[in-house]
Amino acid sequence: MPQELRAVDWTGSSLALIDQTALPHRTETREIRDVDGLVDAIQRLVVRGAPAIGAAGAYGVALALLQGEREGWSAEETQAAVARVRAARPTAVNLMVCVDRVMARFDEGLDAVLAEAAAVQREDVEANRAMGAYGADWLVKKVGVVDRPLRVLTHCNTGALATAGWGTALGVIRELHARGLVEVVYADETRPLLQGSRLTAWELVQEGIPHYVQADGAAAGTILRGEVDAAIVGADRIAANGDTANKVGTVGVALACADAGIPFLVAAPTTTVDLATATGADIHIELRGEDEILEWSGVRTAPAESRGHNPAFDVTPGRLVTGLVTERGVLEISVGELPAHHLR
Ligand code: MRU
Repeated sequence: MPQELRAVDWTGSSLALIDQTALPHRTETREIRDVDGLVDAIQRLVVRGAPAIGAAGAYGVALALLQGEREGWSAEETQAAVARVRAARPTAVNLMVCVDRVMARFDEGLDAVLAEAAAVQREDVEANRAMGAYGADWLVKKVGVVDRPLRVLTHCNTGALATAGWGTALGVIRELHARGLVEVVYADETRPLLQGSRLTAWELVQEGIPHYVQADGAAAGTILRGEVDAAIVGADRIAANGDTANKVGTVGVALACADAGIPFLVAAPTTTVDLATATGADIHIELRGEDEILEWSGVRTAPAESRGHNPAFDVTPGRLVTGLVTERGVLEISVGELPAHHLR
């Protein structure tokens, strides 16, 4: 992916988002000028991925200030608009963390808000670069294969599109590839919205990284047949005990890795770690509309009488996570509690 292509970018007066619903067939940018437009973009997954919605939410404070100026809002009305951005999706904690960080400078005005949002964006790219290197070092040692490059599996999209740049789990894979250490990536297609087959595969093509797209249901079998050396995934929220919410289907990958005895690595910035949430049971899992499951490309595929169950995320118990890589290094979690000193 060319370095200059950014999922989230501030134009000076509006937010430019790469429309991730149009990829891989069309690379289009949506210009967001107001709070309603941003909430809609987050909810329809025009912008998606925990760190990317965090960055979009950070700039959302600036959008609210500008809209408030145009429309004569009181400070309270502007704050209420920011609260709607903060609540646009419930699972990824990055959205709340980044909005709150920027809101701490609300009283200082637009320039301060924009400076903080830009810092959020810059620091996310730096964090991703750091976790890419730490994760690659750790994985090479952990897998212990010395005579060939690695076969890795990933779920959903965690690349430049899902972040402010470079990527988390996909950042580790990009780093491994840069070191000549990737034989092939198994990219789970990611039902029902196909972030894997549409977005991860698109990024892997840009990077020239060999890959297969496979159905989510193929992942466990591929792992148990011994065709994968390690799985690397991202996260939307990590509870204090290491339980990890990520795209629905992730827990099945983790169970298969545990059974096969291969590493299951979670890559996420510390902005995804939520020490205020004790366990995965306390994480709010977004339930999305039934039509995403019952229809295919707008055409009903399930019987008219069927109901759909569409949780967007699931929780992988901390005991199944072999390692958590953040911008500060790798934690090998054995269950229980993440060391807070590493994460604060
Ligand atoms: O519904 P999405 O596409 O926003 O879900 C994204 C994921 O689950 C990612 O794995 C996670 O946000 C990490 S992105 C670096």
